[in-house]
Amino acid sequence: MSEKVVLTGIKPTGMPHLGNYIGALKPLIEQSHTQKTFMFIADLHALNTIHDAKQIKQHTYEIAGMLVALGLNLDNAVLFRQSDIDEIYKLNTFLMNVTPKGLMNRAHSYKASVDRNVANGLDVDAGVNMGLFTYPILMSADILLYNADIVPVGADQKQHVEFARDIAGYFNNIYGDTFKMPEPVIGEETGLIPGLDGRKMSKSYDNTIALFAPEKELKKKIMRIITDSKTPEEAKNPDESTIFQLYKHFATDAEIAEFAQMFRAGGMGYGTAKTILFDKVNSVLAGPRAEYERLMANTDEIEKILADGACKARVVAQETLGRVKRAMLG
Ligand code: TRP
Repeated sequence: MSEKVVLTGIKPTGMPHLGNYIGALKPLIEQSHTQKTFMFIADLHALNTIHDAKQIKQHTYEIAGMLVALGLNLDNAVLFRQSDIDEIYKLNTFLMNVTPKGLMNRAHSYKASVDRNVANGLDVDAGVNMGLFTYPILMSADILLYNADIVPVGADQKQHVEFARDIAGYFNNIYGDTFKMPEPVIGEETGLIPGLDGRKMSKSYDNTIALFAPEKELKKKIMRIITDSKTPEEAKNPDESTIFQLYKHFATDAEIAEFAQMFRAGGMGYGTAKTILFDKVNSVLAGPRAEYERLMANTDEIEKILADGACKARVVAQETLGRVKRAMLG
């Protein structure tokens, strides 16, 4: 097992879809079999948009239950809830004092809100709370608290990991070598998973398939994938087909080659191709889906897993925070 510490947070804002699964979750789960991983549900990061405790709690169970059901290796992965570790609030306060406000002004997500406001003729900061504005500081605290070496994130989060490096640098400059420098790792598949309409699978396009959609809904969604109007007899290019692009992520190499051949040879209609895709996705996800449903009916079990994770995470968090507090306050 590599000595490097991998860390990532997932915001509890709703059930992930197949694009999230293929692009982010599947690689994380695979990695958890060979690497020590800190993985937490970033409920504090959801607070700037969700002001409903029940909803955040429910989404937290969904993400945690999903990770466990998909086979996260709990011997290597420390799975916990961000807000359960008191040291995070403290480190956040400490980091505030070495972070230039100008750095936050440059954050993409904040700038996007400002641009939207300006375009709509509103005050630049309309609807922006301090949770949103200081989001990158809290995220830096997450990364630095657990001494992460590697932070796998989507491309949209890369700047935040770079900010964590900047903030670690400011701190180390003033107080001496205290924090490790984390490296962002951007999943190569992210953004390339097509949705029902062929565009990138994304909630904002309303073209997603929920990861644990019940079987009937999964089938209905797959049958609704938009195709071109080629007849069954015509030869088809698998690389241009959403059906094939999704199939690739669930099948073995031999199955993928065979399915590609069926596209190229002609004689397979899209209806048949969709049925083959459905059978494959369903056979891969049926087991995890059943386990997910069982866990969601027994959230005490999820709480217990999160409590175990918190115990392990706390040991590292206390050590780091001690170092920081001594450096800053003596
Ligand atoms: N901001 C991340 C997102 O929106 C979630 C997150 C919070 C995170 N803290 C993190 C990711 C630390 C990586 C490391 O997806």
